[in-house]
Amino acid sequence: MVADLRTLLGADSVLTGDALRARARSWSDPTPLDALALVRPRTTAEVAAILRLCHSARQPVVVHGGGTNLVHATSATAHDLILSLERMADIVAIDAQNQTLTVQAGAPLQRVQEVAAAHGLFFPLDLAARGSATIGGCVAMNAGGVRVLRYGMMRELVLGLEAVLADGAVLTALNAMLKNNAGYDLKQVFIGSEGTLGVVTQAVLRLFPAPRTYATALLAMDEFPQVTALLPLLQRDLGGALTSFEVMWNDYYRLTTTPPALSKPPLGHEYTYYVLVEALGGNERLDQARFDAALDHAAHEGLFADAVVARTSQQRADLWRIREDSEQIERQHHLTFGYDVSLPIGVMAAYVEDVRAGIALHFGADTRCWVYGHLGDGNLHINIWAPHLQPQDGERIAAIVYTPLGDVHGSISAEHGIGLEKKAYLSLSRTPAEIATMRRLKVALDPRNILNPGKIFDLEEAHPT
Ligand code: LAC
Ligand code: ZN
Repeated sequence: MVADLRTLLGADSVLTGDALRARARSWSDPTPLDALALVRPRTTAEVAAILRLCHSARQPVVVHGGGTNLVHATSATAHDLILSLERMADIVAIDAQNQTLTVQAGAPLQRVQEVAAAHGLFFPLDLAARGSATIGGCVAMNAGGVRVLRYGMMRELVLGLEAVLADGAVLTALNAMLKNNAGYDLKQVFIGSEGTLGVVTQAVLRLFPAPRTYATALLAMDEFPQVTALLPLLQRDLGGALTSFEVMWNDYYRLTTTPPALSKPPLGHEYTYYVLVEALGGNERLDQARFDAALDHAAHEGLFADAVVARTSQQRADLWRIREDSEQIERQHHLTFGYDVSLPIGVMAAYVEDVRAGIALHFGADTRCWVYGHLGDGNLHINIWAPHLQPQDGERIAAIVYTPLGDVHGSISAEHGIGLEKKAYLSLSRTPAEIATMRRLKVALDPRNILNPGKIFDLEEAHPT
């Protein structure tokens, strides 16, 4: 296989041995990469040739983008071939009139944001890993982030795709129209498929006019009903311009505003909840005044106890760093367990208290629980640590975190996906009929199960007898 790949692509496109081991497995796992080889194609035709070869040899293939996913969606074994899209990172075209951008899958998200901005346009998807996460990875994982409230997830921002199927057939679906109801919308099958149904090589993305104004504030309050009442008030008063409504529970805010974290606390540590809100707009004269008026209205309604409003872009960046510095959790506490759940906003505070109580009951009062997330999207990130936790405690913790979601019809994965990490829990958030249909799709598109095998679900039902 490796010799055939070298013949096909040239020696420098196929890494093995030390060249392979010099790379880390992923952004969160610095141990050396292990695999049969890593291939770095330059074109869609090369991707197709690689998959034709792998299909006939039944060779498993794991696609790599920026390595920032959080659910072990790109883990590879020593027998897997890693297909990296790092050399396919070109901006192919930008159409300012139709507000679309065509890009190869290996381009980092931040580059797309910057190229759009250079044309007076805006690609709204945004997340802390923007510098490393690739467009292909954002498509494969259906990335969310901090502006879903107004612009939707990746799924809403992709107009067209090019993907290579398991047998090497190229599916060209580079639609650039906002509306195209000519039959099935095949691109949606690949968005969020975590590399199990095809290799995305290009995407046509939807752009928007670049915002001229960013109005940003951090608010603090003690009562959860203040948080839930603030969201619709701001949505109404800002006429739809509210793009982010990010909430941090006290422990998380404390962690990211206390040394060794670099941020200073712009508001005291005494409140229960901290909400980072942001509105994007197009009118320099009116937008900040409207934002300030909305905050005045919220203050009049008693919806927060303290607030700080960013008046410069530096102050805005400082507020965002508090929210985005979730790295502090892992950096300061070895072996934490991370969850990404969604549930109705109204029951969130009680849910978080339940989880905290359950964890403390089983693992002792020294348990730490950092909670933050995209509250406007009904999405919380929960990170748990306790002294002496072992990897095998994961099952018990997951039961505590996931069980209450059933009654409220929440999800065990809001935006991070399933990968290997959440696989055992897929059936808590999908019906047997949904999982059976996922399997039928997988068999139809990848009959030899070579694309990221074993991620999301196993192909065969495990029969206990
Ligand atoms: C965030 C990632 C963890 O919201 O989803 O920071
Ligand atoms: Zn998130």
